[in-house]
Amino acid sequence: SVDISTFMRQTGHTTLDYGFVNTAATKSSITFIDGDQGILRYRGYPIEQLAKNSTYLEVAWLLIYGELPTADELAAFDERIRRHTLLHEDLKRFFSALPHTAHPMSVLSAATAALSTYYENESDPHNPEHVELNTVRMLAKLPVIAAYAHKKSVGQAFLYPDNSLGFVDNFLKLNFGVLSEVYDVNPVMSRALERLLILHEDHEQNASTSTVRLVGSTGANQFSSISAGINALYGPLHGGANEAVLDMLGRIRDSGESVERFVERVKNKEDGVKLMGFGHRVYKNYDPRAKLVKESADEVLEALGVSDPLLDLAKELEDIALNDDYFKERRLYPNVDFYTGVIYKAMGFPTRMFTVLFAIGRLPGWLAHWREMQGDPQTKIGRPQQLYTGATERQYPGA
Ligand code: ACO
Repeated sequence: SVDISTFMRQTGHTTLDYGFVNTAATKSSITFIDGDQGILRYRGYPIEQLAKNSTYLEVAWLLIYGELPTADELAAFDERIRRHTLLHEDLKRFFSALPHTAHPMSVLSAATAALSTYYENESDPHNPEHVELNTVRMLAKLPVIAAYAHKKSVGQAFLYPDNSLGFVDNFLKLNFGVLSEVYDVNPVMSRALERLLILHEDHEQNASTSTVRLVGSTGANQFSSISAGINALYGPLHGGANEAVLDMLGRIRDSGESVERFVERVKNKEDGVKLMGFGHRVYKNYDPRAKLVKESADEVLEALGVSDPLLDLAKELEDIALNDDYFKERRLYPNVDFYTGVIYKAMGFPTRMFTVLFAIGRLPGWLAHWREMQGDPQTKIGRPQQLYTGATERQYPGA
């Protein structure tokens, strides 16, 4: 007896599914999405409740281990992560080999891949102790690498992590603190960032998570798999959209083009221009994460004492698009990337750091999926089929 997929292949029934629109590559018990209703739940818990009440590390634990942690479990997890924040001094020097003009996402993926070289003897995917250790290492060190990518891009000295601080506060200090100056974390900014990170923590089989799974299915370790996921996230159709949205808003403002005219160009698909931050493969209704981000955008900007005309421009664009037949017929709504950039900008992050923030948010999901895959006895190396359309056999000249 053979399994159904082998039977289908042997009998010439290969499914051609560009973009995997209708093909499940795995079973998973981590995240549930109902794209028609606009529902997102991590391990059964609604995203709205987690964003309001939880913390980044608590949600990370939930995604990775399947249950909410007890207070003791969470405290021990937090403590363990704080103890692993330091990067090897040699790895710090790795950053100087890269040009200061490098995009922080390229720096992030390169340094994450480089992290693997320090732990090669402790990176066996089948060794539970290694897996635990590297889960903690990734959670502890990715924010530090991200902050160094930021510091490098603005030419400032790297700071050492301050392990008296919690996860998000430490990250803010690493980004915005300046050597030999006191840095006081703004609690409004800290909570707002924590909420945004929670909203990004997992989203089932998106392109970057599927990449992490595919690379992981070959037996590659967490560092290599996640470095690949970071590269997948970088693209403007995926995580890179948050940067692309701000660029788009800035271009509309600077060009003096009316919002209506811009939307016309999108609808006519002139030069392939898209309304960035709109549309989603799964959501055919308002993205529940975008709803939460939009609700808090005004509040956060006000609390930070920032007013930004780009937020008004974004709202105007949304109003026009949601009442337009082109967008209605195609069921295109704002996705999570539409409003996040305005908030990150108000916090002081340069545009090129936006997708890096997404990567830190998504890390627990990547780790949870990598681990779920390794623990699933059904896992096989990922290896799609193709329908060959090239030449039939021909002879090399003179052969
Ligand atoms: N602006 C204008 N038209 C759009 C947009 C958009 N943002 N998104 C989709 N469409 C149109 C397509 O041109 C297509 O039109 P057609 O039927 O006339 O050919 C139709 O809507 C269906 O779109 P597809 O591209 O087939 O949808 P798909 O599921 O393959 O793509 C995607 C989803 C990539 C998110 C797409 O909507 C897009 O490019 N959006 C802009 C980029 C973006 O915001 N990405 C972030 C996604 S969320 C995330 O990764 C966190």
